Amino acid sequence: MIFDTIVTEGLAHLSYVVGDDHSGVCVVIDPRRDIGIYLAIAQRHNARIVRILETHIHADFVSGSRNLAAKTGAPLFFSADGGYEFPYEKLAAGDRFAIGDLAFEVLRTPGHTPEHISFIVSGGNKSEHAWGVLTGDTLFAGEVGRPDLLGEDMRGRLAHELFHSLRRLVELGDELEVYPAHGQGSPCGAQIGARRMTTIGYEKLYNPKLQIQDENEFCEAVLAELQPAPVYYARMKHLNATGAACSDHAPTPVPLDAEKFAAEMAIPSTLVLDTREIEAFGGAHIPDSLNIPLRQEFPIWAGWMIGPEQRILLVVSGPNDVELACTHLARIGVDNVAGYLRRGFREWTETGLRFHKVPQMSVHELKATLETAPRTQQLLDVRREGEWNQGHIPGAQHIPASALSTRLGEVDRAIPVAVYCSTGYRASIAASVLKRSGFGSVFNVPGSIAAWKGAGFKLEGSESQ
Ligand SMILES: [Fe+2]
Repeated sequence: MIFDTIVTEGLAHLSYVVGDDHSGVCVVIDPRRDIGIYLAIAQRHNARIVRILETHIHADFVSGSRNLAAKTGAPLFFSADGGYEFPYEKLAAGDRFAIGDLAFEVLRTPGHTPEHISFIVSGGNKSEHAWGVLTGDTLFAGEVGRPDLLGEDMRGRLAHELFHSLRRLVELGDELEVYPAHGQGSPCGAQIGARRMTTIGYEKLYNPKLQIQDENEFCEAVLAELQPAPVYYARMKHLNATGAACSDHAPTPVPLDAEKFAAEMAIPSTLVLDTREIEAFGGAHIPDSLNIPLRQEFPIWAGWMIGPEQRILLVVSGPNDVELACTHLARIGVDNVAGYLRRGFREWTETGLRFHKVPQMSVHELKATLETAPRTQQLLDVRREGEWNQGHIPGAQHIPASALSTRLGEVDRAIPVAVYCSTGYRASIAASVLKRSGFGSVFNVPGSIAAWKGAGFKLEGSESQ
């Protein structure tokens, strides 16, 4: 049997290649935009990709289905419940099809989206009986899908549909293996667990949402704890539903020396994206640049902060980071990376060009200033609401990093502002947003809330206090 899980770090997205190596046929489920990996896996198994399946219209990445179909000739098989605006083969509840000695059966599982389907898999060298189910964004390890992505009008109805879809899934049998479309870190579920696969039996026992037997109580619970969805989700949804032309990769950016880079910054809609670490950015950066360090969280934050209309110039720590950053950006539909600073930031300083800084302020300095001269220091907490409600540094103002660009008017431009989050990552993004918006005196608090607590200082506003 062929069964490969493809993990896309950053988006915490899981896609699958499943098939029969004896017959040399396989399917790809929920492919990402850069499809080379599916072609390589099929080749490694000496197998042909004969169908491309999707569990639903994805909102968090550019689907690779149409490009994979064009490249392999394999047909697209998606939900008959619609939403797609291009031709494809329709799958309805109860439809069955064979892939070599495997059998796939379609189960309707609306809730995360109206058209959502899951695939029950049987056969192969495991068993004649069903042994697994590909649940897409309906059921994750330790969590269920979010029903709110299609807006206020739909969320209530979808939450009820999700309740019934989950009932259908748990009735399939405790022994079934569950293969979801996301792992931990994806905003597609509130509290997705660390494991990439699970079983129906395990989820029945331990998934908190599956313990709720009352339908209304379930709906309240799934709608209560949702974080705002990243702003790029609506754009991705539209792109994947309409099948807008999108190649399987973005154009390669050109290396630029500092003077050329500076000249290119003047082109309208250009954004300088600095993917270096917090300390490097704080030490010296190009005026007006946005800092999103190239860590695990990069693609989600890029999706929050960057629009598709923006033309990107990159500042990276090393040459390998150019391709990595471009791959992450392409997966969320940001293709317009025009160039990068050829030899990293030293190219800029050695040319004698102007740079800005975000000085670091220790929690000890911060505490002393807040106690002795509170009117001379603003403090901004940019964590999520749930984190803020667990307790914050006394005197802080709360604006989540994802909302800061639209709420800048709430921060006083005349007073220096120190920014913190949980570890410093979001604080650095937020500090760069403030600097770009003309705030003169902005500090980062390294270690952020962890350092404050580590120093033994008290928090205020904890719900549990
Ligand atoms: Fe989804």
